[in-house]
Amino acid sequence: MRLFVALNIPKQERTRIQRAVARLRDSEFPVRWIEPEGYHLTLKFLGEVRADLAPTVERAIDRVAAATNAFPLSISGFGAFPTIRRPHVLWLGVDPSPALRCLKQDLEWGLASHGFERETRAFHPHITIGRAEEAEGAGAFRGLDELAAGLRFSAKVPAATVDLMRSQVSRGGQKYSVLRESPLKQRPRRR
Ligand code: 2AM
Repeated sequence: MRLFVALNIPKQERTRIQRAVARLRDSEFPVRWIEPEGYHLTLKFLGEVRADLAPTVERAIDRVAAATNAFPLSISGFGAFPTIRRPHVLWLGVDPSPALRCLKQDLEWGLASHGFERETRAFHPHITIGRAEEAEGAGAFRGLDELAAGLRFSAKVPAATVDLMRSQVSRGGQKYSVLRESPLKQRPRRR
């Protein structure tokens, strides 16, 4: 199974994001746009994992989540990897807050003890909103930078669970499903 660990975005915010990117979607750039159900922030890509290892992975994620206080995600700004002139991935940025970085690091360590290689690349938290069609030249994206600069989106959304996700290829692209939600620690409410 192709698995990854993610923070999913509440439905209300996914709809807001969808509205915010509507002008980009309407602009006919050669991009496969992600449907709002698919908006998420990847914390750790696991790749192909044997099905019988899933419970071990779930326990490792449970342990990390249970030791992490719930925290808000600050989402803002549009961008692209590697560059907006020749994009592969179009995204909304997420603030790499200390809480988010700690969670990422704890997952890296927690999963490394089960044989998953630790990520050495810098962590650029983002929500992918589209993927460029392959073999498109730079000219195909002329004007994207100006259009993206004119779009406004910012939101603060709660992260409440760390989710083990499965990615499957379907006709329209990738289909994601939640295999397990591991709750983050909720602070006791003040009276
Ligand atoms: P992306 O959105 O930045 O493309 C499911 O495919 C999720 O795992 C996506 O969010 C994707 O990130 C991420 N992903 C896919 N392949 C990856 C890889 N080789 N390394 C890191 N993340 C990957």
